[in-house]
Amino acid sequence: MSLHRETRTVHTPVQQPVGSKPLSVPIYQGHMFTFDGADELAAAFDGPEGAYFYSRLGNPTVRALEEAVADLEGGTAGLAFASGMGAISAVLLGHVRSGDHVIAQHCVYGGTYSTLCDLSERWGVEVTFVSGDDPAEVREALRPTTKLLYLETIANPTTQVVDLPALIRAADRPGLISVVDNTFATPLLCRPLEHGADVVVHSATKFLGGHSDVLGGVAVFASAEARRRIWDHAIDLGASADPFAAWLTVRGMQTLALRVERQSVNALFLAERLAGHPAVSHVNYPGLAGHPNHAIAQRLLTAGGGVLSFDLAGGREAGRTFVEAVRLCALTGSLGSVHTLVLHPASTSHRQLDAASLAAASIGEGTIRLAVGIEHRDDLWDDIEQALAKVT
Ligand SMILES: Cc1ncc(COP(=O)(O)O)c(C=O)c1O
Repeated sequence: MSLHRETRTVHTPVQQPVGSKPLSVPIYQGHMFTFDGADELAAAFDGPEGAYFYSRLGNPTVRALEEAVADLEGGTAGLAFASGMGAISAVLLGHVRSGDHVIAQHCVYGGTYSTLCDLSERWGVEVTFVSGDDPAEVREALRPTTKLLYLETIANPTTQVVDLPALIRAADRPGLISVVDNTFATPLLCRPLEHGADVVVHSATKFLGGHSDVLGGVAVFASAEARRRIWDHAIDLGASADPFAAWLTVRGMQTLALRVERQSVNALFLAERLAGHPAVSHVNYPGLAGHPNHAIAQRLLTAGGGVLSFDLAGGREAGRTFVEAVRLCALTGSLGSVHTLVLHPASTSHRQLDAASLAAASIGEGTIRLAVGIEHRDDLWDDIEQALAKVT
């Protein structure tokens, strides 16, 4: 067919490699895929296993991320989302209905906590929070209507490490699924599916992406049926991952093992230094022998991870002074980056809590969260030490 130039500007030929293949994952940014036959397009509407036709339902670049994380976690299948909260909301909302009951660890990420409270206040889902320290608490909380147990491998900012296999076993009942947020541990330190979890969720914004330049989330499922169930809900929720964000995450994940190893080494070094400093009253790091869950961490984690927190003896004022005094560490709310980041939870992420509620969540007025990056550890300590000098 001979076409006018105006038409040819629109219909740029799409190149497919012939006789070779790309080494890196290609970015399929376009959200539509076309078909030669009406029956083939109709079949694509049937479900996630069909051909790609519209990227909210599936996309090859996004699928590459889903398969990469599912493979690392030892799962059957994955689903990628626009953010960690997209993944968490899809899994929670896709599994429970009004009248159901959820058991959740008390010290979960703030957005997850608000979602659980919202489910309870507006959607008629009952939620029981447990400390996560005792499987008996989970057994006692079980009801005939309990549908979901929700845990985090390493909690924020206390670095509590729960005994995943014991808690999951305590809730092992037909029809009840266990969901674990593995953001802080990453599949390099722990694989919750091996400990009985049914679903693992990640904020890929953190360690998986790793460079503070992408928002994303991933859910990994032990069974293909579980993926299908959440996919049905997720395509309507509309929190699908953008292909470019998925591509950035896949690219970042190529250095995940190197980053996590370096972050863990740096974090242990800084935790030990902090523990010996007079301005610091307490350090929370699972890799330290004095951590209350050190034995569990040694059993479940291959290293302590990149996040620690510590309490400044000078309380709230000292906390604020410290975060404003650091020069190399960046003052911000995220974690899992190549950059080292600091946060004073009492004046930021947990500012809505009064002193009693902070204490109940094991967060002090002078607690600082340190999300350790991959810089040289001596430069990090020099920066932290000069900031500590301002609060001593
Ligand atoms: C443990 C954990 N889960 C989930 C989230 C939510 O992730 P996102 O910000 O990508 O929605 C966060 C964010 O900080 C987190 O720390």
